[in-house]
Amino acid sequence: MLKTDPEICAILPELLLPWYEKNKRDLPWRENTDPYRVLVSEIMLQQTRVEAAKEHYLNFIAALPTVEALAACPKDKLFKLWEGLGYYSRAENLQKAAKQIVAAGGFPRTFEGLRALSGVGVYTAGAIASIAFSLPAPAVDGNVVRVLSRLFGDEREQAVLRSEYTERLAPVYPPQTGDFTQSLMELGATVCTPRSPKCVLCPLFAHCRTKSDALPKRKAKTAKKKSDVTVYLLLTPKGVALERRKEGVLKGMWQFPNDERAVTEEELPARLAEMGIASFTILPPRTHRHVFTHLEWNMTAYPVKTDSAPPRFCYFSAEDIEKNAALPSAFRWCLPLVEEKNRR
Ligand code: ADE
Repeated sequence: MLKTDPEICAILPELLLPWYEKNKRDLPWRENTDPYRVLVSEIMLQQTRVEAAKEHYLNFIAALPTVEALAACPKDKLFKLWEGLGYYSRAENLQKAAKQIVAAGGFPRTFEGLRALSGVGVYTAGAIASIAFSLPAPAVDGNVVRVLSRLFGDEREQAVLRSEYTERLAPVYPPQTGDFTQSLMELGATVCTPRSPKCVLCPLFAHCRTKSDALPKRKAKTAKKKSDVTVYLLLTPKGVALERRKEGVLKGMWQFPNDERAVTEEELPARLAEMGIASFTILPPRTHRHVFTHLEWNMTAYPVKTDSAPPRFCYFSAEDIEKNAALPSAFRWCLPLVEEKNRR
């Protein structure tokens, strides 16, 4: 007889826990269940792939081994450690959470207490509660929605399913709460993948009503907003000019001076004069397309050699930027142009 949804739910722990024990990846945040380490890894993994997060996680924990160290970390150092992970507001929220934890004298030990930390949503609170504090709190992310919508043959759009699956999973949690949470994530990441799932290896195969990548139903993607960005690499005797970004995406990060529009070569001299650059040589530009989640930049970078160094900017050597300044990937591709040997 075919099992009902609640019956399938009830046997998930016995199907998944042995599979997880045998097949789990050796990931740095799985070394122990210290809540600080779980918090850092879960925030990093919110929008970053496991492979990309691994090295950042190890560097981050080596530099800031305790929640107190994170709470006291200067912003520049924090952003430098976050460099390359994107979504820098996550780093700021993570530090706010660390300050909340230090002020309270330790980690909250309830789901609601965790949920009240800055940057911690239902998913992340569930992950920390179940992995670090043995609480039966599900953590349903996109991976888990995929696994369960296929398992149940659930054709509804995935946006509505997170809260419902969270409710369905809570009552079936076994004592090994952290392993159960991670077994669902792990199955989604390694077997029940978005495309070409490895159904023959799946411990849920016998009960699965989809056995393919036909689900979950996706919302049609909205088109990304596109804009042109002109970047000025002001190469001065004091170094290359950087400034802090004042608004919009990447607010607070370092950037090369730029305009969010296409500036033609004819317009450049007047634009440079406005910035306080009097005499200059414009070198051949380079172009690059940078894709954010909801936004696309068509970028043109002009290296400009000049003896002027207007005081509104800060000046760095390429090496200095490499070591000390958090330069987002959207501008990082320009770095080779700062060094003489790489210019055409
Ligand atoms: N994605 C989110 N949290 C994770 C975890 N703890 N292990 C692997 N992938 C994850």
